[in-house]
Amino acid sequence: MTQRIAVVTGANGGLGETMCKALCDQGRKVIGTYLPTDEENAKNWQQQMQEQGYELAIYPLDVTDYDNCCSMIATVEQEQGPIDILVNNAGITRDAPLKRMQPEQWQAVLRTNLDSMYNMCQPVFDAMCSRGFGRIVNISSLNGEQGQFGQANYSAAKAGIYGFTKAIAKEGARKGVTVNAVSPGFIDTPMVRQVPENVLESIIAGIPVGRLGQPEEIARAVAFLTAEDAGYITGTNISVNGGEYMS
Ligand code: CAA
Repeated sequence: MTQRIAVVTGANGGLGETMCKALCDQGRKVIGTYLPTDEENAKNWQQQMQEQGYELAIYPLDVTDYDNCCSMIATVEQEQGPIDILVNNAGITRDAPLKRMQPEQWQAVLRTNLDSMYNMCQPVFDAMCSRGFGRIVNISSLNGEQGQFGQANYSAAKAGIYGFTKAIAKEGARKGVTVNAVSPGFIDTPMVRQVPENVLESIIAGIPVGRLGQPEEIARAVAFLTAEDAGYITGTNISVNGGEYMS
């Protein structure tokens, strides 16, 4: 079998890195995307990955821009080959209580966390269906499941991912293309470390497992869903949250 090509958006972020490593460990050819404004960091990161034995190609990408997604995907397919696996991981927070949330905070989070799903899936989906194989994993969040104080924007976007995931899972089901969500809880990443210390302490106190999750614990779910023999799992969500929300 030819080596499958996996694209991970937001690859050089807190969760993306471990997803890239897990996909490499699975024998995939991994392509990471990074924010165009973050080129220098991304190149350093690629170098560090290489030193650890992980060979990744990286491409600049703004997931909020449909045309940019289409052109990046076309370039990857031309330079590397067809995309079989897509992990929509790029995401941001702009937390504020609703009474203080500005339109820019709402729009930035909806565009990055939800529009990106359409922007990335739409240009790859038909070709995956035609080839009879595809694995798409959309990274949602515990806070899309339960809602979170100060995250009306983020919770709305992450909840929207479930509807999107289920709809296109139905469209891909007979074509060998699975589409699932993974919902991380509070994981030890720079995004979570931005939460004010006192707030984070009370959040950790409410996690039944009693600690933050590790990025590898999310990557494990992604690798599970993208495996060759995961073809009967589609339209579902794996919550990885230390028991904080049990649906
Ligand atoms: N539930 C109920 N009330 C709360 C609350 C909560 N969880 N958090 C704060 N409040 C109350 C406070 O007690 C305070 O009440 P009073 O005005 O009566 O004193 C009021 O709301 C204002 O609180 P803050 O002083 O904290 O307000 P702020 O404007 O300084 O900050 C905030 C608001 C930015 C939302 C801040 O509370 C915050 O950062 N919260 C954490 C948000 C969060 O969990 N983000 C997750 C980021 S990680 C992530 O998103 C990854 C993932 O997928 C899980």
